[in-house]
Amino acid sequence: MIDYYFIMVPMVYLAFAVFFIGILFQILKLLTTPRQLTTLQIFPAKKPSWLYILADTFLLPTVRKHKPVLWVFLMLYHIAFLLLIFGHIELISDIRIFQIIPHEVFLGKGFVGVTLTVCLTYLLFRRFKSPYREISVPEDFFLLILLLFTVLSGGHMNWAANWSEYGFDISIEDYREYLSSMISLKPAIPEMIADSPHQIIMVLHIFFANLFLIFFPFSKIMHSFFALPLNKLRRG
Ligand code: HEM
Repeated sequence: MIDYYFIMVPMVYLAFAVFFIGILFQILKLLTTPRQLTTLQIFPAKKPSWLYILADTFLLPTVRKHKPVLWVFLMLYHIAFLLLIFGHIELISDIRIFQIIPHEVFLGKGFVGVTLTVCLTYLLFRRFKSPYREISVPEDFFLLILLLFTVLSGGHMNWAANWSEYGFDISIEDYREYLSSMISLKPAIPEMIADSPHQIIMVLHIFFANLFLIFFPFSKIMHSFFALPLNKLRRG
């Protein structure tokens, strides 16, 4: 059997190192950039400004006004992504606060993956059409395709576990054993994963996720860190 150790262990550490160091580097780069002399402020200023800052950042009112269909997909995508982050944290261990709505990991029995797949497909195909095609660059397609591959492979495992009559041979306990060993810096791939005929789908998921994490700090997804401060500049 092929040994996927490199993708499941060293590449994961490398991906997380690039992810965290890259983000820190980008934040420091921004903080040391000379101050912009022109203002980005929106006039007339509305009060209370903190409410408008939060609303602009999380409710995307301009998109809602001009592109309501895009807005629906963007909101669904971001909500599902948040649930996805919670789900991956729960893959490591039980978190009591996340169980406010009692559920098995992941919340939604596969619908988080479905929602992300539908939204990413929409966001990708939208760029095939004019005028978005003309203003799209290869990075836009690369990012969406990479995310789609990651979500489809992760979703596949969860859909098989939830929706297939036969279930999925790798269990949450096996994932937990693997992830805990990674966190405690004593990496070990449990037998159930190493010997599973379905290991390849997990390896593909981790491979695409690693690429995504490595690419993250150098891509437009950095907006997840900069959207709030930018809106603060505009409304502050
Ligand atoms: C190295 C980092 C990652 C690891 C080890 C990992 C591992 C996993 C595992 C084991 C599952 C299956 C859980 C189950 O069957 O119940 C899963 C599900 C999933 N993963 Fe990941 N993942 C990683 C990063 C990511 C990233 C970066 C994304 C997306 C950008 C992602 C998207 C998904 C999705 C969409 C699901 C299915 C959720 C659902 O259908 O409810 N994963 N992940």
